[in-house]
Amino acid sequence: MQDINIKNKIEDLKQQIRHHDYQYYSLEEPKISDSEYDNLLKELQNLEKNNPEFITKDSPTQRVSGTVSSTFDKVEHLSPMLSLDNSYSTDDIIEWHERIKKNVDEDIEFIIEPKIDGLSASLVYVNGSFEIGSTRGDGKFGEDVTENIKTIKNIPLKLLSEENIPKFEVRGEVYINKKDFQMLNERLLEEETQKFANPRNAASGSLRQKNTKITAERKLSFFVHSFGQVEGIDFQKHSQFIEFCRNVGFAVQKDIKVCADINEVIKSILALQEIRDNIPYEVDGVVVKVNSYKLRKIIGYTNKSPKWAIAYKFPARQATTKVLSIKTQVGRTGVVTPLASLEPVNLSGVTISSATLHNFDEIERLNLNTGDDVLIERAGDVIPKIVKVVGKNSEGFFKVPLNCPDCNSKIIKETEEDVLYRCINPTCSAQFRRSLIHFVSRDAMNIDGFGEVVVDQLLKINKLTTFADIYSLTFDDLMLLDLFKEKKANNLMNAILKSKDNPLSKLIFALGIRHVGEKASLVLAGKFKNIDNLINATEEELLNINEIGPVLAKSIKNCFSNEKIIKTINQLKALNVNMTEPLQTNSFVPLENKTFVLTGELATMSRKEAENYILSLGGKTTSAVSKKTDYVVAGENPGSKFKKAEELGIKILNEQEFKELINEK
Ligand code: IVH
Repeated sequence: MQDINIKNKIEDLKQQIRHHDYQYYSLEEPKISDSEYDNLLKELQNLEKNNPEFITKDSPTQRVSGTVSSTFDKVEHLSPMLSLDNSYSTDDIIEWHERIKKNVDEDIEFIIEPKIDGLSASLVYVNGSFEIGSTRGDGKFGEDVTENIKTIKNIPLKLLSEENIPKFEVRGEVYINKKDFQMLNERLLEEETQKFANPRNAASGSLRQKNTKITAERKLSFFVHSFGQVEGIDFQKHSQFIEFCRNVGFAVQKDIKVCADINEVIKSILALQEIRDNIPYEVDGVVVKVNSYKLRKIIGYTNKSPKWAIAYKFPARQATTKVLSIKTQVGRTGVVTPLASLEPVNLSGVTISSATLHNFDEIERLNLNTGDDVLIERAGDVIPKIVKVVGKNSEGFFKVPLNCPDCNSKIIKETEEDVLYRCINPTCSAQFRRSLIHFVSRDAMNIDGFGEVVVDQLLKINKLTTFADIYSLTFDDLMLLDLFKEKKANNLMNAILKSKDNPLSKLIFALGIRHVGEKASLVLAGKFKNIDNLINATEEELLNINEIGPVLAKSIKNCFSNEKIIKTINQLKALNVNMTEPLQTNSFVPLENKTFVLTGELATMSRKEAENYILSLGGKTTSAVSKKTDYVVAGENPGSKFKKAEELGIKILNEQEFKELINEK
């Protein structure tokens, strides 16, 4: 194909994919099947791979850069990102209306929006292309999370607009859906990593990941709620702005409503309060805003917040009930955790019958025992927590059980400082059951159709005694399971077979090494490339890896010193389960994590071409030289960046050296 034809084809594919991303992620109305979409994406990836000079930053293939940074750069906001005044009753809203009315001599139209429990972010588009994404930070300076923002699928990398808009800074909320929040916490619990207390923390912790691959896995979403600097387009009303955003590719909330007067505002707030649990993301109130931008100007600002808007916060969802019993459960690494079984109670439309108690110290802190009346609260989490004891009906203290509820072996704290009790019986069947569930789960070996029910049934008929047994299962074994007919058994056989080709990182995660989560698994697989290198790695070698600290290094060494694990790995090997980390299928590896700054003119290529080479090989370019820069590429007449690089001792490449680097790699 001629260059011009390739370029046109790439542009055409990009536009098609953007359109389908918009339909799927922003409007939630997909128009093509997943496989049709995958084909478009694959075609684009292939064309870009063979023609890296045509890769642009806003291409749909550039969402996950794989950048790993140690800190985030600071970004100064184009205008301050303010916060909102809070109110806690409808009377507060009426008072607010009285206050703002004084300066306005016309009827005020309002717009109300659910207040999303996430974290605010600013997204700057230059000539329609996404350039910089940042967190709110202190309102004046935020953190540069551009690469992480790019992984959020319902954020357009290019505006779907024909108009020329030189600058468009939207502001909005990065959030996580309730369902995804719950799934994330379940997984973190399995990994024994700290759970997130609420969806806001989850969104913030996920967006501010140093490794963009982790952010990409976290299923974040974005809703537009305001704007900063905009050039080249004018809006009269907020409702117009929201509509515009919707048309150029953003997701906007479904429950936004224009209200003709304050009475309608009050009614609508209360109506939203009623349905808050039906909204798929966590909403902690309603934001009431004046719709007209002209009136907003008149009403003005305090130095912290606009006077033309106010947040109405929903009351906390609390209820009292009785503790029926305190049960214990065993996790896959033997941790025994308590769970309170409650007299069922209705909490804003949901029947609650159990509450989490993170550890036995929590029971002591609450001075809780069976029979007590407790105040419970739901704060984003589906499983509520016990806030305090409100009626002490029990006598004496809850006694930490001495034995594992499953295998009856003694449970212990491994060190004095530990808060967790563990069953240390390596053959505890509850632990093995949970390890199997983890092994086959989506983020581990991802064996579709291998759920808890299948695990339980196979355990019952003694078909699973090690992970390796999964790969010796036969079609006839599966036909023994409830509700399994030919098609279902075939599908599961295929899913098992397919999982043999998983990259090493998935297998490492699936093994369930204590403290080794998905991120550490990726890092280890990337570093050691095959399981034997990892097994043979010394503690020192492990500690030399940035992301691996002493606890992890010890845990890894400890795991591979266990003969049973080594035996299982050998069995898996013999059954042809892949034990290597493939070089990534795209060519993003060689310059991964490397930051380049270009200065001066290059003789044989344009700056854009050089940037594209770097990008296509997994590196990134920034405009300023700092300690974090890996290479400065200096052409003719380099500027002050050259000097800065010399001062900081950054490696400077001339054009020839740069070309050698990109060719050789
Ligand atoms: S409008 C001047 N609309 O709430 C700020 N904010 O407590 C204009 N938030 O920092 C923001 N949902 O991050 C607006 N529908 C919504 C919102 C919303 C959540 C956040 C926002 C803001 C915080 C203030």
